[in-house]
Amino acid sequence: MSNTAIWCRRFGVPEEILQIENTDTEALKENYIRVKMNLSPINASDLIPVTGAYGHRITPPFIVGYEGVGEVLVATDKWSHLKGRRVLPLRGPGTWQSIVDCNAELAIPVPTNISDELAARAYINPLAALMMLRFFPVKGKRVLLTAAGSDCALYLGQWAIRFGAKSVAGIHRSPIHHKKFLHVEYCQ
Ligand SMILES: NC(=O)c1ccc[n+]([C@@H]2O[C@H](COP(=O)([O-])OP(=O)(O)OC[C@H]3O[C@@H](n4cnc5c(N)ncnc54)[C@H](OP(=O)(O)O)[C@@H]3O)[C@@H](O)[C@H]2O)c1
Repeated sequence: MSNTAIWCRRFGVPEEILQIENTDTEALKENYIRVKMNLSPINASDLIPVTGAYGHRITPPFIVGYEGVGEVLVATDKWSHLKGRRVLPLRGPGTWQSIVDCNAELAIPVPTNISDELAARAYINPLAALMMLRFFPVKGKRVLLTAAGSDCALYLGQWAIRFGAKSVAGIHRSPIHHKKFLHVEYCQ
């Protein structure tokens, strides 16, 4: 089966050094599933390792991309119930490729009522926001968000209110972010 992937083969500016490569898929490993990607978004966190900023733990060559959603094409016996299901193929090889082989135990099945668009971005920013709110409980507190127009801050602001924050104020740069929050005060 042919696969198209975006590779980082040396550190640098993403748009200058990333390259598209076509290869044939290898035999599927035991306990792995083969996923045909529907959507692979671009997150800030996808680009940081390309620049070398995480060079102490991620070195080229690697396929880029941490998030995305796809449909299971091939699943070995134990995992045959996943065939045809949409999953998040997390914590495996990069998601910026048309076919991702990932460890079935780490794949997250996606409920049918969640769209591809939402599922594809359900990992990095939602979990980062949730972890922050768990480590720094906001109940009864007044919260100030910087870069409040960012996707991560969008989750933080809404969930801070839900977790009992007294108020959430956001500082943002571009006026296009004004309408993003319903219950948030803004100052520019
Ligand atoms: N460590 C982790 O696990 C983890 C997880 C999630 C996110 N993050 C980090 O959190 C950050 C936000 O991620 P995201 O996906 O939410 O990014 P994003 O949606 O791309 O948002 C980035 C925001 O930064 C603002 N910004 C950029 N340069 C600015 C400047 N000079 N002055 C003022 N505002 C500026 C942009 O404002 P405008 O829209 O107005 O241009 C934009 O709203 C990234 O650094 C990301 O790597 C880390």
